[in-house]
Amino acid sequence: MNDIHNTDRKVKGRFTHRFEHASGAAFIMKHERGLVKVAIDLIKSFPIELVIELGTFRGGFTKLLEDALPDTEIHTYDNTNQTASNRKYFGKNVTFHIENVLTRCNSLMELCADPRPKLLYCDNGRKRQEVAMYSWQLNKRDFIGVHDWGNEIYWNDVKDYIGNWPKVGWRALEQSGQTSRFWQKPN
Ligand SMILES: C[S@@+](CC[C@H](N)C(=O)[O-])C[C@H]1O[C@@H](n2cnc3c(N)ncnc32)[C@H](O)[C@@H]1O
Repeated sequence: MNDIHNTDRKVKGRFTHRFEHASGAAFIMKHERGLVKVAIDLIKSFPIELVIELGTFRGGFTKLLEDALPDTEIHTYDNTNQTASNRKYFGKNVTFHIENVLTRCNSLMELCADPRPKLLYCDNGRKRQEVAMYSWQLNKRDFIGVHDWGNEIYWNDVKDYIGNWPKVGWRALEQSGQTSRFWQKPN
């Protein structure tokens, strides 16, 4: 990943990071420069066959997921088409859905119930609601992740839904300062 410009901006505790991808396309994402690799490496180590990302924005994080997991089916959801110009650079394993995930979203519910092992990554504007609405639909041993832990979503927001799920990879994430956090649904 090569930076085109030093365009990181931190607005209300969130980063906007622009980078040039090997495909030649410029992508923008709301994940921490450099530190995002810690989260991507962790996701890469998960025994999963499916990734669901809630909150595509401009597709930057989606593209990093695709690079890390080229043989894994990736579904990314947003209620806007902000990634319109970059969608053509997504690989065949990526499906972009324009849907409101905070109302009944049938395709998302079906994906959550899919028997393949998966990660549901919550990076929409209302992570607490996403965890509340979809964590119970995941299968045993599936993973759930949230971004912006400690500045947009806190223990009190998730404890009633995934409070008894084992944490995964927290030490590396905490030590690096990266704000994604993951849990795995118990058996
Ligand atoms: C924080 S951004 C996602 C950042 C992206 N994952 C990245 O790393 O670049 C949140 C996104 O959620 C989308 N969003 C907000 N409310 C939504 C809803 N109800 N349904 C689906 N997407 C929504 C916004 O349009 C926005 O693009």
